[in-house]
Amino acid sequence: MNILILHGPNLNLLGTREPGVYGSLTLDDINSRLEKYAAENGASLRIIQSNHEGALIDALHEARGWAAGVIINPAGYTHTSVALRDAISAVGLPAIEVHLSNVHAREAFRHTSLTAPVCLGQISGLGWLGYQLALEALLEKDN
Ligand code: DQA
Repeated sequence: MNILILHGPNLNLLGTREPGVYGSLTLDDINSRLEKYAAENGASLRIIQSNHEGALIDALHEARGWAAGVIINPAGYTHTSVALRDAISAVGLPAIEVHLSNVHAREAFRHTSLTAPVCLGQISGLGWLGYQLALEALLEKDN
């Protein structure tokens, strides 16, 4: 199963970015763990991080041609981007939204996700493990 993993803005700074909130793993650390899990479970990943809304949207459009599912941490765009929400909805691929931190326990502006309603589900607050659980959910979805 081919899966697209999309990391949104500022997630390239993980490891040094507010480690008390986001943990001390770098994005490469997280991606390596996911690659290992994918290899052990018969999944093939394409992983993209971008700080640009349009690049995330382009990646979703391109995924129509090859991916069976999407795991997305839209980061700050979660709370602002109608365009990203529309892209997730438009491509029609099963998508799971992941947040490292528990967005519901943080500032009020983080409690609203524009993207979650067009995803299968949302995992928030479980750190890097949220991505692995999302991967497991996509792999198990039709079994
Ligand atoms: C985040 C939560 C968002 O509110 C924030 O803007 C991020 C990261 C998370 O993974 O916890 O950049 O998506």
